Amino acid sequence: MTLLRVEGLETAYGDSQVLFGISLEVHKGEVVALLGRNGAGKTTTLSSIMGLVPSRQGEVFFKGQAIAKLEPFQICRAGLGYVAEDCRLFTSLTVAENLETARMDARDGGAPWGLPEVLDLFPDIRNFLDRKAGALSGGQQRMVAIARTLMGNPDLILLDEPSEGLAPLVIEAMLQRLKQLKSAGQTVLISEQNLRFANELADRVYIIEKGQIPYQGTPAELNNLPEVRQQYLMV
Ligand SMILES: Nc1ncnc2c1ncn2[C@@H]1O[C@H](COP(=O)(O)OP(=O)(O)OP(=O)(O)O)[C@@H](O)[C@H]1O
Ligand SMILES: [Mg+2]
Repeated sequence: MTLLRVEGLETAYGDSQVLFGISLEVHKGEVVALLGRNGAGKTTTLSSIMGLVPSRQGEVFFKGQAIAKLEPFQICRAGLGYVAEDCRLFTSLTVAENLETARMDARDGGAPWGLPEVLDLFPDIRNFLDRKAGALSGGQQRMVAIARTLMGNPDLILLDEPSEGLAPLVIEAMLQRLKQLKSAGQTVLISEQNLRFANELADRVYIIEKGQIPYQGTPAELNNLPEVRQQYLMV
């Protein structure tokens, strides 16, 4: 079942066009990676899907509904969750309060994420539930941001560069948590520069470069194409 279908999305910041016809699909239960270098348009793609940056062309269908003209809060209510690169936690609230603010019941009665389930996935969070979110390390904030989004029981999570800026050990911890999230059946569209991170998680990958999608395939297919990796990802 197709949860998200993006068709020919074009987005500009003022006169400067950044996306030139992005098309992609995410099916229920999949983890799909949007892979690209710095400035390729990953964040712009996710924030356009979320309605945070208006698109000038193209359409986004979420569960069959056209959402490109909706407000971000409506898109969120429709069941699309978003974890921004910079987390955007309420820094003066505690971690527990941050999680509580995002609580929403599942729309279709599917297995809902509540506090116990979220803390089972991210057990470390138990150790700092009462601390102010602003006092956490970057890796801790990233985990709390994902946990908070799960509390809204989204059908699909857009996860912007979860490995970015984290130390190698923290990246490994994040990877294990996201693998568990995938095993729990959560559908995720993740943006990444880290090819190994994306390959270990994703069922399918799209490469984004200069606001276009020059390649799509499975991680295994991409592994057999060193020239594609070299051209678009420099690895
Ligand atoms: N608010 C903005 N105003 C103007 N230009 C922007 C804005 N945000 C991003 N851009 C430009 O749009 C292009 C794509 O940026 P975007 O942040 O989507 O890339 P990215 O793939 O997420 O990069 P990164 O890996 O650095 O996060 C870049 O050229 C960037 O300079
Ligand atoms: Mg980005």
